[in-house]
Amino acid sequence: MNMRTLFSYLFLLGLILNLPVISFSQELIQNLPGRETLSLNGRWNYIIDPYKMGYLDYRQQPFDQSESGKGGFYDNITAKEIDSTQRVEYDFSQSPTLKVPGDWNSQEERLELYEGTLWYKRDFHVDLQESKRYFLHFGAVNYEAHVYLNGKKLGVHKGGFTPFQFEVTGELKNGKNDVVLMVDNSRKKDEVPTVNTDWWNYGGITRDVDLIITPETFIHDYKVQLANNDMKMISGFVQLDGNQKQGQIKVEIPELKISKTISVNNSGKANFDISVKNVDYWSPKNPKLYEVKISTEKDEIKDQIGFRTIETKGQDILLNDNSIFLKGISIHDENPFVEGRLRNEGDMRMMLSWAKELGCNFVRLAHYTHNEKMLRLADEMGLMVWAEIPVYWTISWENMETYENAENQLASGILRDKNRASIIIWSVGNETPVTEARNDFMEKLIARARQLDDTRLIAAALEVETEGNVAVVNDPLGEKLDLASFNEYAGWYWGEPENISQYTFDIKFNKPVVITEFGGGALGGFHADKTTMWSEEHQEYLYEQQLKMLDKIDGLRGMTPWILVDFKSPRRNHPVYQNFWNRKGIISETGEKKKAFYILQDYYQNIN
Ligand code: GCU
Repeated sequence: MNMRTLFSYLFLLGLILNLPVISFSQELIQNLPGRETLSLNGRWNYIIDPYKMGYLDYRQQPFDQSESGKGGFYDNITAKEIDSTQRVEYDFSQSPTLKVPGDWNSQEERLELYEGTLWYKRDFHVDLQESKRYFLHFGAVNYEAHVYLNGKKLGVHKGGFTPFQFEVTGELKNGKNDVVLMVDNSRKKDEVPTVNTDWWNYGGITRDVDLIITPETFIHDYKVQLANNDMKMISGFVQLDGNQKQGQIKVEIPELKISKTISVNNSGKANFDISVKNVDYWSPKNPKLYEVKISTEKDEIKDQIGFRTIETKGQDILLNDNSIFLKGISIHDENPFVEGRLRNEGDMRMMLSWAKELGCNFVRLAHYTHNEKMLRLADEMGLMVWAEIPVYWTISWENMETYENAENQLASGILRDKNRASIIIWSVGNETPVTEARNDFMEKLIARARQLDDTRLIAAALEVETEGNVAVVNDPLGEKLDLASFNEYAGWYWGEPENISQYTFDIKFNKPVVITEFGGGALGGFHADKTTMWSEEHQEYLYEQQLKMLDKIDGLRGMTPWILVDFKSPRRNHPVYQNFWNRKGIISETGEKKKAFYILQDYYQNIN
């Protein structure tokens, strides 16, 4: 029995026993934009529920695990269904609404700092089609989501930045349906991330919600990329799902005059290697995307895919066999102008256009899986990407569930984005303290990443120890990773800008060096002399000194200074200079470029 069949049986068993079925990343359908979908974006009713009254009875037992399974807000009893003698202490139909996609913090004053449980409900109409299958898909919900359809529990998902879905074929009613979510963004020690992060804990349905509609047997997943370090071979697979998982699939890339028909095996999978010539390889200077069409007798899907190779050779990074310097910048998933997560393509295009204007060919999408649209834009705009999961700082390394959660988030990101040429690096974490338990945890993640995708580099922001003015990079993970990549804060957390030049680096790995963070804070528009903390001149001086110092590092092959734009953080409390904003952006939250922006822009312009 293969894993997919096993998951299907588990899912059905869960439904029969009314058990919450945890959504598995393996269920994700590849290339949502290429599918027929019914968008469930828009205004959803919401109920703030800090004591989980809609989920727990007064003895703290979940209603949805009681004998009747009834009693929770997911029953969605509304005023017009009851008479005046009945006591019901909630009513979605008379409750206010929130925009989806969109975190709740930025939509209601009383929710800005809210950490807890909030319910969402939306009605939707479906004209069911014969022999079609239906999947309820969420781009991301932060942090724990319990999902109910027409009062029946579909399952639970944990992880605030990765997509998940539930098959609802046979659960949907023809006509009116309602979907209810209980979302809890409380920070917990054993979650991923843990309780301490330097970013705002935006809660809610922060990305798109769609009903995906497919043929009964359809193209569930595929990978179409160049084989590992082979510029003449496209290697991949197509995975069918459904009752007729037999027959043939066709892979077509018209511009390359490729049309290959392959028979699927008895689990509905077809692997293929297609030799190619005259490929116009994807690169930042030439972000060429090809139309790829995959079809079977009953289904067809198109994608826009770039072909490139990425590898390291000694201390060099080779893109399509050419040495390349990663001229990068770090980016959070947050709109500075309309506070909250990036909501749409316009928001994302703005962020990536600033990176292009800075002269970047590379972006670090910190510290978690970003919106799929961000990666598709990076493909289109010619920006290489460092993708990352929020294994950040002091995770619960000894907890097996914590590991499974981290691995599920890693697998979801790799599964969703494996056809995006822009992604060259999968990062498994950031600044995690060196212990034996942490090394075990991270080495398992690294091995899993390589197993899931042998065509990209695997990295992390490693630990650095300062011994006087020497920064020693000897993190044991370095042996297992493809880059010597680390954050360093000379001139900010380590002394003043004027003594940056005294720092040297003792890096114990003969690998390409990528500085994944450096920087300092400045309040946009505050001007003073360069020694005055928080002035733009201070940040500008820090960047000048940093770039001079970094140029002396042997094997320096890239950097992603921290950070493109000021971003919100509960850890930044100075009432004048911060006010819950981390001010290390080289662009302010009003879109003003600070003086340091031009120092970095000038530096990148002088690198070929
Ligand atoms: C850390 C961390 C970032 C954080 C930054 C800072 O290195 O990786 O997430 O925002 O430093 O202190 O501003």
